[in-house]
Amino acid sequence: MDEEAFRAEFNKKSVFRQASSLDLSYVPDKLYCRDDELRELIHTFRRIIDESQQPSITTLLTGKGGVGKTVTARFFGRNFKKIAIEEGIDLFIEYFNCINFRTKSMILRELLSKYTHGSGRGYSDDEAIKLILSQLIREKGYILLIIDEIHLLDPKDVWALLDISESFGHQNAKLSILLVARTKDWIRIETERILSRLNSKIKLAPYNYEESLKILKYRSDIAFKEGVVSDNILEMISQIVVEHGNMRHGIEILRKCGLYADKESFDNITAEMVREASNEVYPTFRDDIIDKLSDHELLALYGICQSLKITDESYTIVDDSYKEYQAICEAYDVTPHVKMSFRKYIRQLNKLKIIASKTVRISEDKRGRRLEITLLDIPSGKLIELLGNLFFIKFK
Ligand SMILES: Nc1ncnc2c1ncn2[C@@H]1O[C@H](COP(=O)(O)OP(=O)(O)O)[C@@H](O)[C@H]1O
Ligand SMILES: [Mg+2]
Repeated sequence: MDEEAFRAEFNKKSVFRQASSLDLSYVPDKLYCRDDELRELIHTFRRIIDESQQPSITTLLTGKGGVGKTVTARFFGRNFKKIAIEEGIDLFIEYFNCINFRTKSMILRELLSKYTHGSGRGYSDDEAIKLILSQLIREKGYILLIIDEIHLLDPKDVWALLDISESFGHQNAKLSILLVARTKDWIRIETERILSRLNSKIKLAPYNYEESLKILKYRSDIAFKEGVVSDNILEMISQIVVEHGNMRHGIEILRKCGLYADKESFDNITAEMVREASNEVYPTFRDDIIDKLSDHELLALYGICQSLKITDESYTIVDDSYKEYQAICEAYDVTPHVKMSFRKYIRQLNKLKIIASKTVRISEDKRGRRLEITLLDIPSGKLIELLGNLFFIKFK
């Protein structure tokens, strides 16, 4: 590549409006579908603003990976700070992810250097806390600590953090803590002692299909230019999100598809790009599933893939994939089964989560319904190659 080509690549049109909005640390202006949880957070922490005593409050946010714990915590922190400042309270929000801060000492040293402008060195943890808290009292400030991935701390450190207000007196501890952890990780460190320090525990459930669609639509409107991501594509990604209960995959798929489209000079995101990205983000497709399928289920799967590849839509329908199924059967001298059996194979593939299918109404008429079939995790091209090789050994 010479300089001119290098420049030309930079001057290419991009599908993105704001690519950085798909970074994991980005917090959107609106948080959809978490109203209940936010309301609970508001009413748990509002005493800090409402009461002159300014109590210390400790709350835990849990849920599976990718359900929006981090974004909910940060969204809450950002808006809570705004309200507090309006009410004349100098609230500081400090966010720590324990991936970067592995001990209580590291967290305290960071706070100490920030609030007392010292290096934080040479103090014990207890001295450090004392210095931070007295500084807060002097300046009439208050800290809300958000500690993410808390399970990465030693349980003793967790306990010591939660015990600050006990050890230093409720009047003196101008500090509250919002803990964040995946449910599975939290269970490993939870003890009676830690539990007794929690004011409340809020659990986030994975988003359902409608919620995922709404969130992805909002996020893609921020990230992409108009017309780049069609509703069909958003529906497809929502299905993947619901399948794994993980919104992170959805955001990651959007990001990867956008980068790919830019690199290959496409104006919009296609179904095959989504499958390719999904396969990278979440390589769920296990070859051993293939071993569990009967010959005709495999041939049916091939038919579906072929038909998806031809249409380049996000989905295909039974009639089209049945035709491709018949064609591949003939190619290998296998007698195709009737369409009724073919439908049965589709149901089986659906049950094994190799494909996803849904019935869609296309007119008011009772019979105006059709089954839309799609592949979620693996690009049809890849599966065609895999099955093609297999058939070559099986049927030749
Ligand atoms: N309600 C929501 N609205 C907008 N984006 C969301 C929402 N919930 C999750 N996300 C996005 O999904 C991704 C995963 O969320 P995150 O908070 O990191 O999950 P967790 O911390 O539970 O693993 C992030 O990119 C986040 O911005
Ligand atoms: Mg998180």
